[in-house]
Amino acid sequence: MKIFKCIILLALACSTSAVKRHVRDHENYDYYALHLQDDASPQRVASLLGLDYEGPMGELPDHHTFSSPKLKRHQADDILDDVRKRRRKRDYLLPRDLQSIVWSQKQRTKPQMVKRDRLPEMAVRQSLPPSADAPDGTDAEAVAERTSLQQELNIEDPIFGEQWHLFNAIQLGHDLNVTGVWQQGITGEGATAVMVDDGIDMYSDDLKDNYFAKGSYDFNEGVDEPKPRLSDDRHGTRCAGEIAAVKNGVCGVGVAYNARIGGLRILSKIITDEDEAVAMNYAFQDNQIYSCSWGPPDDGRSMDAPGILIRKAMVNAVQKGRQGKGNIFVFAAGNGHAQGDNCNFDGYTNSIYSVTIGGIDRKGLHGYYSEHCSAQLAVTYSSGSGDYIHTTDVGVNKCYAGHGGTSAAAPLAAGVFALALSARPELTWRDLQNVIVQTAVQVNEDDGSWDKTFAGRPFSHTFGYGKLDAYAFVEKAKTIDLLKPQAWYKSPWMHVNHFIPQGAEGLLSSFTVTKDHLSKANFQRVEQITVTMNVEHNRRGDLSVELRSPSQMVSHLSVTRRLDEAPTGYVDWTFMSVAHWGESGIGEWSVVVKDTEVNDFNGTFTDWRLTLWGECINADEQGLLPMPAESDDEDHDIISASPTTVSITPGEPQPTGIANPTDHQDRPVNAKPTATGPSASPTPASITAGASASSTPLPDVPPAEDSGKEHFLPHYFPTFGVSKRTQIWIYGSLAIIVLFCIGLGTYFLIQRRRRRRSEREDYEFEELLDEEDVDGAAGGKRSKRRAGELYNAFASESEDEDGALLSDEDESEEKAGYRDEGESVNDEKRGRPPSQPQ
Ligand SMILES: *[C@@H]1O[C@H](CO)[C@@H](O)[C@H](O)[C@H]1NC(C)=O
Ligand SMILES: *[C@@H]1O[C@H](CO)[C@@H](O)[C@H](O)[C@H]1NC(C)=O
Repeated sequence: MKIFKCIILLALACSTSAVKRHVRDHENYDYYALHLQDDASPQRVASLLGLDYEGPMGELPDHHTFSSPKLKRHQADDILDDVRKRRRKRDYLLPRDLQSIVWSQKQRTKPQMVKRDRLPEMAVRQSLPPSADAPDGTDAEAVAERTSLQQELNIEDPIFGEQWHLFNAIQLGHDLNVTGVWQQGITGEGATAVMVDDGIDMYSDDLKDNYFAKGSYDFNEGVDEPKPRLSDDRHGTRCAGEIAAVKNGVCGVGVAYNARIGGLRILSKIITDEDEAVAMNYAFQDNQIYSCSWGPPDDGRSMDAPGILIRKAMVNAVQKGRQGKGNIFVFAAGNGHAQGDNCNFDGYTNSIYSVTIGGIDRKGLHGYYSEHCSAQLAVTYSSGSGDYIHTTDVGVNKCYAGHGGTSAAAPLAAGVFALALSARPELTWRDLQNVIVQTAVQVNEDDGSWDKTFAGRPFSHTFGYGKLDAYAFVEKAKTIDLLKPQAWYKSPWMHVNHFIPQGAEGLLSSFTVTKDHLSKANFQRVEQITVTMNVEHNRRGDLSVELRSPSQMVSHLSVTRRLDEAPTGYVDWTFMSVAHWGESGIGEWSVVVKDTEVNDFNGTFTDWRLTLWGECINADEQGLLPMPAESDDEDHDIISASPTTVSITPGEPQPTGIANPTDHQDRPVNAKPTATGPSASPTPASITAGASASSTPLPDVPPAEDSGKEHFLPHYFPTFGVSKRTQIWIYGSLAIIVLFCIGLGTYFLIQRRRRRRSEREDYEFEELLDEEDVDGAAGGKRSKRRAGELYNAFASESEDEDGALLSDEDESEEKAGYRDEGESVNDEKRGRPPSQPQ
């Protein structure tokens, strides 16, 4: 025991004397991510698990990283599996230090993210060689204007004349319209952007004066300077130059040429979710904007979302980063349009926390590569029509004239945001999105892709709200009213469980949001909408989904993808739309699932849930969204929804991701459902929610996330009207007594049952291992469902209701447990395919 204490003291001493840097060696070491109770000692946990303590996991509260040399199976794996298993059985007779493990995940290296400057073969041919007309078409007047501007602003950078995205002297008006912002002296001063990428060349003469070392780190090498090291490490530098190349006679200038620019190098080696989560929060008080020109492959087949740690990091960033105003994540929409890809199949671009930016070319035409989707907020300039983005390259004084794809578009947006934050630093992450919605400029008005939103703004799945105009953006940013804090409303899960007809019919399911729902949720106005859904189908690419709002605005959440042959359908996938910005949210929302291909592949629409995200009514009452948990897709209330079959107007072109010049012609004015009966919910056929037998779909017990308040214990524990601390004391003492009794009882029970149950126990253990695979690979959400299942299996023995030592995550787990009792509907969820493929 003494030796043990010594070790701990030593470990403590070590950990306080030196803050460990983030150094990972994924070839020779395994890493474990653990969420511990806030009073736990990570050093003690490390010694109990036989792991080395690497340190806190970046900025994620109570998350820690541990490591061990790679072994086939480490004792920690067994212990952590056991802890997980016992937690599910709500068996808290664990050593105290193990009890403090709220959640754990062994880290696996993730598939490498793809840089979004890689264009498909066909595409490259199309855009090469640069069209000969470029120099000839130059407008003499515009050139004169540019020259005088350069004199006025003292821009002597040699390729400024080639930087048409800043000032286009050929296709007049097809540029960022940024010079008027610079003329006001707004050039990015005080703003900071960071390229999350393959490094940036901080020794380039075009970047070094703006380089922000404090906000930079190399996660691939575990060193401070994110220097490009591989011959391929040029992407980050080129993007960085677009944002903040210095005005200094070297190459060109950035959009925000006095902003600070950093680099977080993550793309040059295999990493894990933990690395990426730490990167996404790195120096997040100083790094305002994270520019991300990468994502899962844009191959028209992938459907990948960031794992739970990364999702937590993004929520953490918008809640705590930038002194609580939230970091801005800018993502390139993706280059898979020609492969039929769509940015709603990418969990980064369709996150409400990211600003998704697509590309148009120097003539203002849609970049053939640039993916469409309802989650896209805006577009800006990139390659196409024979030219590219001209920017900085790796090297002391090297320029690049061939940057393209949506990779090159996103950093220009990041540059515009840097200008806006320089002018008005108090804008929150949502205010910034609001400025995009209010100021983006319509392009290609007549291409048939545009609709008017409820708020009167033009929206297109091809261009979002339009192209960014830096001048309009910054002017609006200066004066726009700040939004009140974020509120959200989650509908019940609508259980449809209905075969999807093939061909010209779609399956419609709706849910009516009432004024009462929203006032209870303190919800005033819609910003983003998400729809989480499960559809079983043996050829995923045949499916498409649209969302119809109460104002009849249609979001094409999903489109058919000819290359997507996955036999999995959609598994707990969340689609997102920004097309409903400004709606009240009240009224009937319908989801229409279509299987337009008449073939042998068919499927079933299982269930869906709508979430409205937006501005709250009363700022004082509004809490912060709880951190995402793997159990988020579970809820108390479930409604059996009877779907309606609706016909899709014959001959109506189905939205598809496939590149086709006419694919956004004749966008359907969607026929109202040929209602065969009021599908109007909430008139659920039956309500099976365990918590409540009333006919209102709102549960009597609002789920924790609805109130947004921190609960110490579930509501049914009396508070005795005393402080949280006293409650802890009361319940703690009670718990000890109860634990003692239970311990005694359990001892006898276990003795009795052990013999009978040994077979089952073995089986269960195996199951758990499988499940861990799923967890690790997909950040999967299956675990909590399984948790319910296991809990059910042993429900009779789980007398332990001691909640005093539980954290929030446990509470939700516990509720899931209660709910599962006597809830038949949950059975359906169990038959699902294991996971979204990675
Ligand atoms: C472009 O900037 C100029 C000022 O330089 C401004 O007058 C004009 O309105 C801007 N364009 C748009 C669409 O706002
Ligand atoms: C759906 O597809 C399966 C397998 O291809 C087939 O056995 C089944 O009959 C189909 N169902 C319908 C209703 O077409």
